[in-house]
Amino acid sequence: MENNQIEVVEGDITLCKVDAIVNAANRTLLGGGGVDGAIHRSAGPELLKECEALPELEPGVRCQTGDAKLTRAYQLPAKYVIHTVGPVSRDGLHGEAEKLRDCYQHSLELAVQNNCRSIAFPAISTGVYHFPPKKAAEIAVSTVKEFLSNHPDLEVLFVCFDRRTASIYHHLLSDE
Ligand code: APR
Repeated sequence: MENNQIEVVEGDITLCKVDAIVNAANRTLLGGGGVDGAIHRSAGPELLKECEALPELEPGVRCQTGDAKLTRAYQLPAKYVIHTVGPVSRDGLHGEAEKLRDCYQHSLELAVQNNCRSIAFPAISTGVYHFPPKKAAEIAVSTVKEFLSNHPDLEVLFVCFDRRTASIYHHLLSDE
């Protein structure tokens, strides 16, 4: 039985008309490639300006791995962008799974704190950061399901950029 608060779609997260889209950023929050690049391109230059204005926790770092920061979304159809920094996958022995769980947990908390009713996630860390897609999806789905059990009004969209990733999520969610 698929959870009716969770939906899996294949597509481009910058087109999602939800309250918040999550960006798989890096610690500078100054943009990059992948979904980070797509979000900044679609949001327009004001997004970078807001990110640059966020306080540096240490030189060049505005968001620690596993943490999340909220900004406006400017020219994107969403209301907010929640920037989170996923772990770079090494050997799975450096707390990568816990950090990835933190990304989902902190993004969800930030969304609820800002009265969001819907939030869209990309497959955080599974691109440039090389996190194994199936393991990442298992972490994403388990963290989101646990959070939703206490937040019945929140809707979560997993936006997969390719069919392979979408089928991993569909398989996980229909396996109840
Ligand atoms: N919409 C949805 N998903 C997307 C999009 C998009 N427009 N573009 C890419 N993706 C997917 C990728 O296919 C991958 O499944 O997002 C997932 C995460 O991949 P990356 O964007 O490479 O993010 P990540 O692996 O977390 O690496 C973050 O990459 O872009 C830089 O600045 C970023 O340094 C940071 C690093």
